[in-house]
Amino acid sequence: MAEMVKLFVNGQEVEVESGKNLIDALKVVGIEIPHFCYHPALGADGNCRMCLVGIEDGRPPLVPACKTPAQEGMKVQLDAEHIKKIQRDVLEFELINHPVDCPVCDQAGECALQDYYMSYSLDDSRMRVEQVTKGKKIDFGSGVVHDQERCVLCGRCVRFTRQITHTGELGIVNRTDAARVSIFPGKPLNNRYALNIVDICPVGAMTSSDFRFKQRVWFLQKDPGICHGCSKGCSIYIDHHREKYKDDVIYRFRARTNLKVNGYFICDFGRLSYAAENENRQTTATADGSAIGFDEAIELVRERLDRARKPLMLVSPDLSLEQMWAVKRIATLYGADLSGYSDSYVIDGDGDDYLINDDKAANRKGLELLDIDSSKEQFISTLQYTDLLVNFNNDLFYSGVDEELKAQLDKTQSIAVCSHQLPVFESATIALPTASYSEYGGTIVNEDYVLQRFDKALFKNEDPRDVLEITRLLGGAIIDAPHAWPGIRQSVADLADIDPETIPAEGLNLQNSEDTNVGA
Ligand code: SF4
Ligand code: SF4
Ligand code: FES
Repeated sequence: MAEMVKLFVNGQEVEVESGKNLIDALKVVGIEIPHFCYHPALGADGNCRMCLVGIEDGRPPLVPACKTPAQEGMKVQLDAEHIKKIQRDVLEFELINHPVDCPVCDQAGECALQDYYMSYSLDDSRMRVEQVTKGKKIDFGSGVVHDQERCVLCGRCVRFTRQITHTGELGIVNRTDAARVSIFPGKPLNNRYALNIVDICPVGAMTSSDFRFKQRVWFLQKDPGICHGCSKGCSIYIDHHREKYKDDVIYRFRARTNLKVNGYFICDFGRLSYAAENENRQTTATADGSAIGFDEAIELVRERLDRARKPLMLVSPDLSLEQMWAVKRIATLYGADLSGYSDSYVIDGDGDDYLINDDKAANRKGLELLDIDSSKEQFISTLQYTDLLVNFNNDLFYSGVDEELKAQLDKTQSIAVCSHQLPVFESATIALPTASYSEYGGTIVNEDYVLQRFDKALFKNEDPRDVLEITRLLGGAIIDAPHAWPGIRQSVADLADIDPETIPAEGLNLQNSEDTNVGA
């Protein structure tokens, strides 16, 4: 439990965490101190001077809040006239050579310079000399595009490549108004986290070639979610928009701060995996390659399951705990074997010692907790004699087509409950479209046993049915995610006390351990 101190801000008493710098400490109680160069993951650099505040205790008249720890009894001044003047002066300085091209800037609407100008300045420019021009639209590599004229030289991007990725591709070259951020000649950004630079740049000087000019940010609905790109389960924002008469579309994923899981950042693969939520979707039910109605398809599946002598159900390691549980229940109902075989989701050597994991399954620990056999031996031996395989969205060919397995699947009558059109589902005689993870809510457990909850973010014109609903239509008794929990609690000791409604935003560590590999 952090020690708390009482201090005064503009004469008003507040209680904050002791020792935290004033920017972070006061933010918790809703008091903003404007700043550019400070970032909690990168520390205080003290170069921008936007955060200067007064402390009435005989110190120099102004101190940088980013380097000043909160202390008992401190009297902090934010609204004195000389502090407001400093803020206006810093903004005037930052804007001398700034192109003020907000109407065509991707950052407009979430830009610190724009917001601070509106909140702390509104002064007209006094500059009557020609502006210094610099490089525009410079390709820095890894999908990052730099505009030197918009840069406020806060150095966050440079520090990111030095302190976080340890790749050091960026530097600030030259001095005074010739200073600019640059890559070294012929050495573009080359790391798997480069697009975080776009997030941490406080202005529109770093943009993403993927997102540039696709959507104005004020049209985006920003919902919390969890990346399903690997077993780290990073916290993200799902930024999406539904245009009139069109469908809900995801435009980007961004990092959501979670000090229990990913810190402040996410990897570029996960960030760009939003595109797969929009594309290549299975949207209609089919039987023997022809489109049929969804209800008709459900009836067909029920009939086949009733007739099957020894059905086998296969779950994806990406399904939520609730969905896995619901499939487990209907497997019992139909006397089916159950497997979570998913070796192809593991790409040996692809992970790193930061966030990216070898295992691309979002809920591998869920399979373990629910005691679903994921061994190759059990799956292959059961596949030999099953007369009906029902695959609940498991991409057995995640890391490439396994020809031997494909030959075996081709010989087996199979039903695919699938969110995407993938090679692994091609041999299925019946395909039922289902929701992907941005389209339903549930819980998953990451590689460090952090249980996280996520809610449905996307609402489509025609909402795809979630696996859980499909199991209900096939005769299961679980009507929605909360209904799965009494059964889960009863059968899994580690989850016996869990109420999913009370899982905090950063998740719950099921092992009560602080030993998670948090990013930064
Ligand atoms: S590009 Fe952005 S993050 Fe980098 S120094 Fe300039 S303003 Fe700061
Ligand atoms: S590290 Fe894994 S979970 Fe995190 S953003 Fe990347 S792919 Fe997604
Ligand atoms: S945030 Fe304190 S000097 Fe830049």
